[in-house]
Amino acid sequence: MPGKCVIGLQWGDEAKGKLVDILTEGKDLVVRYQGGANAGHTVVIGDDVYKLHHIPSGILNEGVLNLITAGVVINPPTIIEEIKSLEARGIDVAARMKISGRAHVVMPWHVLEDKMWNRLVSGEDNIGTTLRGIGPCYADKIGRSFAIRIGDLIQDDFADRVRKIVEVKKRVLTAAGDEDSGSLDAEAIIAEYAKYAEALRPMVTDTNRILLDAIDDDKEILFEGAQGSLLDIDHGTFPFVTSSNSSGLGISTGSGVPGNWLTNVVGVMKTYATRVGGGPFPTEQENEHGQHIRDEGNEYGTTTGRPRRCGWFDAVAARYSARLGGVTSIAITMLDVLSKLPEIQVCVAYELDGQRIDYFPAHVNDLRRLKPIYETLPGWQQDVTGARSLDDLPVVAIEYVKSIEALVGRRVEFISVGPDRAQTITVSEGQTLESYLAARG
Ligand code: IMP
Repeated sequence: MPGKCVIGLQWGDEAKGKLVDILTEGKDLVVRYQGGANAGHTVVIGDDVYKLHHIPSGILNEGVLNLITAGVVINPPTIIEEIKSLEARGIDVAARMKISGRAHVVMPWHVLEDKMWNRLVSGEDNIGTTLRGIGPCYADKIGRSFAIRIGDLIQDDFADRVRKIVEVKKRVLTAAGDEDSGSLDAEAIIAEYAKYAEALRPMVTDTNRILLDAIDDDKEILFEGAQGSLLDIDHGTFPFVTSSNSSGLGISTGSGVPGNWLTNVVGVMKTYATRVGGGPFPTEQENEHGQHIRDEGNEYGTTTGRPRRCGWFDAVAARYSARLGGVTSIAITMLDVLSKLPEIQVCVAYELDGQRIDYFPAHVNDLRRLKPIYETLPGWQQDVTGARSLDDLPVVAIEYVKSIEALVGRRVEFISVGPDRAQTITVSEGQTLESYLAARG
């Protein structure tokens, strides 16, 4: 049974949490494999709103085992708070979740370093991170000597390791002019993390073994991506990216399953585009169109509360992400957000140095310079939030989705018209939007 994967095709915040929640039905395991507390997944079930950062969205389903695997970076106080808030709502997290001992730990110095790096780089070079210590933690993972993994928290040499690392980190932070580095107190950190280790201990295990056994046993597995493909450290809009492989390519390394087993990938994208933080955003609308999308889509960060930058749908970027990630079908979200617009723009190609191009350039300077080429599509100007099947959608709205499908080059499987589970239209495998529209007349 091949694993099913959900990834974002833009710069994150594509409403993946909702898709994961829907696709969790019938699954044995849900796996979170990269990123950390920089992610914010919102799941709405009836009147209940759950905001998750580390914990897989499958935690809300009884009978599903949720795994946080090696590619994730974990901030212990944050994850413990998440666990407690779910437990307060009657969810037995310890019984439903396992954490890899290989996952890296975001330590207090990582947050200080993130803030320091952010201060040292100004203007349009500033990445505008979530300041959650994600980049510095992954940097230490790659650097190895100063890294701490979840499995290290319960080792006998943990205290010594913290003392040695704090000494070095303090020197580096102080040399860079950081005034907060004085707050790093090795003994206090050791005592605090001993408590975290005890709280997490019942959940820590070798998730590689669980996953590989699950594959042998033909279990149904869902992989939940965080952030979006264009934030991928290797293949995104570098350096304005996050520090993990957030495209489809990260599923295998982050979780520890072979790539040839991942043949079913749902790419999630909004009907428009957003990004948080710095970096190129070819279709950005710093005008009334962007503000309209922000207002209608409530485009403010789940993790940081920052207003998101908003713009038109970029089909060139989405096609790149879909091809890169081996996407087999698409989920289009936030159709309802565009409902009031008389006309909608879609970027179908770029102009770079007077040439029309249909690919996503690799270098940030090219991405900054290019001009989007738009096609104007008619709006439907009708509320679609009550739609539960294609029959309930205006033909013009389906035409819009069909145009996006053709531009991205992958079949649309899901259309989301609101945050609730129920506000989702599934296009069955045998059906095409074209044949549906022809039959509807
Ligand atoms: P970091 O992951 O905190 O290092 O931030 C790097 C970049 O990725 C910044 O532009 C963030 O705004 C962006 N980013 C990180 N996580 C998310 C997310 O979950 N959604 C949207 N953007 C994100």
